[in-house]
Amino acid sequence: MSELNMKDLVSLCKRKGFIFQSSEIYGGINGFWDYGPYGVELKNAIKKFWWDEMVRLRDDVVGQDASIIMHPKVWEASGHVEGFNDPMVDCKECKSRFREDQLKNKEKCDKCGGELTEPKMFNLMLSTQIGASEDSSSTAYLRPETAQSIFTNFKTIQKTSRKKIPFGIAQIGKAFRNEITPRNFTFRSREFEQMEMQYFVDPESETDHYEYWSETRRNFFEKVGIPKEKIRFHEHGDELAHYASKARDIEVEFPFGWQEVEGIHDRGSFDLTQHETFSKEDMKYFDEATKRKFIPHVVETSIGADRLALAILCCAYHVEDLTKEGGKQDLRTVMRFKAHIAPVQVAVLPLIKKLSDEAKEVEILLKKYGFRTEFDTAGQIGRRYRRQDEIGTPFCVTYDFDTRDDHQVTIRFRDSMEQKRVAISDLASYIQGLIVEEM
Ligand code: GAP
Repeated sequence: MSELNMKDLVSLCKRKGFIFQSSEIYGGINGFWDYGPYGVELKNAIKKFWWDEMVRLRDDVVGQDASIIMHPKVWEASGHVEGFNDPMVDCKECKSRFREDQLKNKEKCDKCGGELTEPKMFNLMLSTQIGASEDSSSTAYLRPETAQSIFTNFKTIQKTSRKKIPFGIAQIGKAFRNEITPRNFTFRSREFEQMEMQYFVDPESETDHYEYWSETRRNFFEKVGIPKEKIRFHEHGDELAHYASKARDIEVEFPFGWQEVEGIHDRGSFDLTQHETFSKEDMKYFDEATKRKFIPHVVETSIGADRLALAILCCAYHVEDLTKEGGKQDLRTVMRFKAHIAPVQVAVLPLIKKLSDEAKEVEILLKKYGFRTEFDTAGQIGRRYRRQDEIGTPFCVTYDFDTRDDHQVTIRFRDSMEQKRVAISDLASYIQGLIVEEM
């Protein structure tokens, strides 16, 4: 019906317990967010799907889970101590702080028109102290990207997994950046999760791994429910990160414009060479087939789980006008998540409370098959359907009096609102079939 307004989405996320401010009872803390019951199910489903696509269903990518805090030298070698900076300016009048490269007008304050200070470079890494003493030797950093532990573990994982190049190492984990201006809900946060994969290749390989991964990753966006017309590539020109020789973003159209959700980077031999220099460990790979020893090149795919979740929430949000002629206004809010990532996939609803025990058995059966389910007995059936629409449940299963005799339930479909009778014995395979078909 109408264009999505971020305020409506933020309000639905809070009202329904998807996402809300961290430490809310203390007034919140800027750039930090918490996921409630539906939010965490959504995010877990997204991460699981990414892991399935990137690791479990492939023979050439393995996983790892490394510590968040690493040896401080890692960040010197990676270039983050020296170069992971954003230009910061302050307004001399209203004291607002900005990232200079995001200002519409570099001369005047965006808020009050006041004079701005000269830009200062501000390092985005968050630091902490390790151990009891607090001197510079005990300073450590919360990782600003998960990638570096994949580079430092490259040799160990290559040897233990016996993978031959080309192969990848994937990881999902928290990253931290002391962003100057966190904004647009969870889009730019100070604590977030990344899903990254480093693909190690022979620099003389004839295959264009960069193009292959760009296309593969773009297709992933459609599989999680981002419409084709809201996805595009953005090629990097001058704005290349310090480690990249080539880069493109996969952007999604948000209500606040086209924005990066994933980066595809050709990191060349930059990181492994740096770690070889700083650690004095040999990072070269010996290729049995060609009898050559070389530092592999790396193609990286890097996506934020929170940013992707936000993109999915924005694209799923719909308000439909179901008002009948001459009737009271009837607006239906419906989150059109793909069924494989919906926080609740099947809601089981006994028509009346008296049927709860039998209906509960249907829910237990569906849980055993691995579906994310919810059981709701409160209120009229129509109201319960609408509640499920708002959290994006694709299938509602109603247990009524006829079920006792014919062992069939009614499935109500979220998007079409159509209904169909299905035998309980076929229910799980029927729903599974629909989920897989839509993936
Ligand atoms: N290892 C490469 C790397 O970290 P990046 O472009 O800086 O590259 C990759 O980040 C992805 O991480 C981004 O596309 C975005 O999805 C996510 N991301 C980065 N900074 C973020 C932030 N402040 N809040 C939420 N997500 C962020």
